[in-house]
Parts: sequence; structure tokens; C-alpha cells
Amino acid sequence: MCGIVGYIGKREVTPILVNGLKRLEYRGYDSAGIVVIDKKGTGHLAREVGKVAMLEKALAKSNWGTASIGIAHTRWATHGVPSERNAHPQSDCTSSFWVVHNGIVENYKDLKDALIAEGHKFISDTDTEVIAHLIEKFYHLADSKANGHRLVNAVRQTLRQIKGTYGIAVVSKLEPDKIIAARNSSPLILGIGTDENLVASDASAVISHTKNVIYLNDGEIAEVRGDGFRIETVGGDGEETKAKVEEIEWDMEKIEKGGHEHFMHKEIFEIPEVIENSMRGRLILEEGRAKLGGIEDVKEKLREVKRIIIAACGTANAAARVAEYMIEEYAGVPTEVDIASEFRYRKPVFTEHNLLLAISQSGETADTLAAIKEAKEKGVMTMGIVNVVGSSIARETGVGIYNHAGPEISVASTKAFISQLVLSALFTVFLGRQRDMSIVMGQRIGEALKELPGMVRRLLADEPHIIELAKKYKDTRGMLTLGRKYNAPIATEAAIKLKELCYLPVIDLPAGEMKHGTIALIAPDFPSLVIAPEDSVYEKTKSTIEQIKARGGPIIAITTEGNTELERFTKDIMYIPKTLEMLTPILATIPIYLFAYHIARLRGHDIDKPRNLAKSVTVE
Ligand code: F6R
Repeated sequence: MCGIVGYIGKREVTPILVNGLKRLEYRGYDSAGIVVIDKKGTGHLAREVGKVAMLEKALAKSNWGTASIGIAHTRWATHGVPSERNAHPQSDCTSSFWVVHNGIVENYKDLKDALIAEGHKFISDTDTEVIAHLIEKFYHLADSKANGHRLVNAVRQTLRQIKGTYGIAVVSKLEPDKIIAARNSSPLILGIGTDENLVASDASAVISHTKNVIYLNDGEIAEVRGDGFRIETVGGDGEETKAKVEEIEWDMEKIEKGGHEHFMHKEIFEIPEVIENSMRGRLILEEGRAKLGGIEDVKEKLREVKRIIIAACGTANAAARVAEYMIEEYAGVPTEVDIASEFRYRKPVFTEHNLLLAISQSGETADTLAAIKEAKEKGVMTMGIVNVVGSSIARETGVGIYNHAGPEISVASTKAFISQLVLSALFTVFLGRQRDMSIVMGQRIGEALKELPGMVRRLLADEPHIIELAKKYKDTRGMLTLGRKYNAPIATEAAIKLKELCYLPVIDLPAGEMKHGTIALIAPDFPSLVIAPEDSVYEKTKSTIEQIKARGGPIIAITTEGNTELERFTKDIMYIPKTLEMLTPILATIPIYLFAYHIARLRGHDIDKPRNLAKSVTVE
């Protein structure tokens, strides 16, 4: 997945596509590729790992004939490491059909096996290549009298086989007068020009050519020619749908951020979709278990694991601490969390059947990488939960689970953290079902996970209330953040965000620890953010709130919807829906992110690039 751009018209296509890719660079990617079909009907392909500039350099040396149709892509790896052969466009056995794809084909493995059995030859590790081979198959099965619409029909039949998400653009040298575009849960627009049309995953790639766009809907497929287009349904009888041409009014900067003021805001609002993507194809609800492709090969070794050590830094470390509670409570495997920078310098004692689990968004954090190397040196099995496919940590651990959270541009990690929690829950179910967890418990966790995207959407809709709270607390001189059990790490995550975004001195503590010293800080001008959902430790957390109230400290509380009791202590309450205790951190984090974001915004800070910070910390 990442960025798509396609062009058909009268102009020379290559520079248009390369410039379109440059417009999409802000989204993050690891490789880029382009295919054009020249006037003689010959396809020309170029793909490069790295920046679009590398692709441009390679293209400068090429000697392609004039072409006015082509598609291009920036890839963010999901299946297969970043490499030339895994970059898009992907093709079929005969190099006649070319596909660029954003999204995930969940059933690609089954489809690939079936196609291989039918004689198809695959070159890449991608799920996308399956789409190209299916188009090849259906094109040749199609009625050859289909009046120049064989390609659209073959793509439609292909998409009917696919489970998962996609935004795709397809070209073929057999019908070089059209681009086929289709969408299901992955954005795709048509840019409508004069005697030329474009296809793109994002308006930024078309805006320098036209402001008139059509936003494709899920389940729609478009046949785009230079002088027109036709949009039909993928399902049903493939009937034509009515398209509405809209004028883009945003400027470039706003388009890149999808209409949000900052990438962080955009990424927070992507969280419902990120939860869905992190779980996609991984939850087998009927059997109450998790299917995690990246660790299937070592599942017997994982069954033997007697102790887990999780190494991570910063926000990923907070996720690790939530995972510790989950794994111990539901899978019964002794688990401990290490700050990776400490782990590498102490002398960790390993015993038999230990697993070192590294959690990292970037997959490049030097301290986490060093912890893995140290464990491997001692013969300990390692595994990763990593967002960036093919990153150093992913390669070093060899086995693991990818987040599928998409690129995170804002320096402060948000959607990746939530995805780390979701994967921790899935990994817990995976381990638990290998041990004592019943099918019913596996199903309960699975069902609760499935409810989360809707609940998060509701929480995001409560933003106006959070903005009011942010206005009230924006000038505070500091803050205390508190939580217990599953939400003690969320107090830490809240503190990280309030520190890095708002530049506030914030102290985070497991709530029960406050009375052992930090309570001396409680004062009328020193607020406490207390995470107190109605869970197994609610009464205890409530008594911490009472202690703060008794000393005149202002309280901002997070609790479960319907619990009005805390109104006795404060009016500043953020409510979260009821869910399983182990999943409350996911919901509690959402208002915290909005709260920290809006305080930082009101204080006029550089939200996406906080001072002194970098997105990946590749130094010790
Ligand atoms: C905070 C944040 C950092 C990272 C930490 C680890 O918002 O983003 O604390 O979580 O630097 O980074 P990764 O997950 O890339 O290993």
C-alpha cells in the first residue's frame, strides 16, 4: 500500500507520473515504480527501492518511446520486503497486465496456491501479484467479442475473488486505451481534465492538472479513457453508477493532510481503520483463535515458551507493559518488560524456552535492535511486532507480526501504538489458545476487539468536549498522570505525549504509588489526569482520586460511560465505552491523544515535529 497515480491523455506520460509520485512522497514509502505503454503498444517498466529521485535517475537513462498512458506507485511494504521485484506495478506471466495496488488481499495465499496449480509463475512475494495473474486468467476466459470491454470485465471478475481492501489501477498492452480503477476501503479518485484523465489515491497527485475530481465509492470500478470514463459496480450486474464531479477547494498542504491541520490529527482519526487493518484476516472468531501468518512457522516453538521478555522504547515500551498484563492474565506465560536501552547494558539472565519480543514502530530503534542482538547472542528466540516491513528489527528477529498501521509521519506515535495494543491482544489469544484459554474466552476477546473501531469513532466524535478541556488546562505548569493495572502504562503514554507535544513537565505513576512521595506535589495549580474505568481496580483508583481531592488537587478523570459517581470529585470527565478490561487502554488512549494534541495546538507548538525529537532514534 501507499500512493497511486495514473494518467491517460495526449501528453507525454512519464514526467506527469513522476511528478505525481513526488506529490505523494509525504505519505512515506520504501520503493517506487512506473509502467507506461508506448504508441507501438510496448510496455516499459521501471522500479527502484528508495526515493522517487532514484526512479527518476533510472528513467533518465531509459529510452522509452512516446507514451501517453501509464500508472505509477510508491510502495509501503506489507507482504514482502522492499525490493525491486516486490515494488509495484506488478504483472502477470505474460507481462500484458500491470497493477498498482493499495490495501491488503487477505486471501492471497489461497488464490496464489490455486493459480500456481493452474501453471501461473509468480516472481514477487506480494499479495498484489495475485491480482495481475487473476486478470490474465479472466481476460483469456472472457468472451473475445466483448467489444473492447474485456479488460474491465476481467478486472471485475478478479475483484469478486478478492477478500480484503484495495484501491487499484490497471493497464494492459492488449487494451492500451484505458486505465481500469477500482476501490474497496482504500481511497481512489479520478481527476477529470480536458482530453485527459487521471487516477490517484490522493488529490495531491492530480491537483496541478485539474481541480475536478470524482471520489470513487467502495465497490465501484471505472473504465477511464482519455476522452471520458464510465463507472460501474463491481458486484451485481455491473450496472453503471452516477458519478458526481466535485471541485477541490483545498490547498496542497491541506490535501496532504487529508483536510487535517496536522499529520498527528490525521493519524489519530485513522485509528478506527488501523484497528481494522491490524486485525484483518487474523481473527478466526468461530474457533476463538488468532491466525498470525508471520509466526505460523514457529508456532510449535512458541508453544514451548516459558517466559517472555519484551524490549522496547518510549511509546512502544508503554505498549509492551500493557502486553505484559494481557499475556500473564490470559495466556499464563510469565512476562517482563525491559526498557531496551537498559536491557542491553545489564546482564540479563536467560533460562530455557525464553522468548525476546521486540516492539517497534520504525523497526530501526538502535537500543531495541541491540537488545535483540544481545538475546540472539545468548541463543534466545526473538520475535518482533514491527510496523515497517523489511526494517532492521524485522530482519534481525526473522519472525514476527507486522502492524499494517501504514506510514506514521507525525513524530509522536499514535496509530502505531494503538495497533501495537491490538496485536498484543491477538498475540495473547494466540498464546492463550495454545495453553489453557478456552474457545469461549478467545471468542469473547475477539468479539470485543471487533467492537473497537466503532467505539473509537464515537470517542473521536467527542472532540469538541476535549477541546474545551484543553482550553481549561493549556496553561498548567505541569501534571500528574495516574492509572492502575492495564492503565498504568497508559498513564505513562499520556505523560510521553504531554511532554513531547506540550513541553509540560509530567510525572506518570501507577496510581497506588502516588502516596509514596509524589503526593507532596498535589496542589490547586497542579492537576492530575486519572484513568479510572470501571474495571477490577476501579475502587482502588477511586480512592486515589479521593486523596487528590482531599488535598485540593484538580482532577481530570477518564471513566466508563454511565458512571456518574466521579462527578462528585470533578466536572472534567472524559467517558469511554464499556469493553473488556484488557482492552480499556485502547479506548482510554483516544481522548488522551486529543487532549495532548489540542493543548499543544493551543500553545502554538510544532506538533508534527516537536523540538529535539526524531521519528526514528537510530543512535544510542
Ligand atoms: C513517542 C514516540 C517514541 C517512540 C520510541 C520508539 O510518541 O514515538 O517514544 O515510541 O522512540 O520508537 P519505535 O517504536 O520506532 O521503536
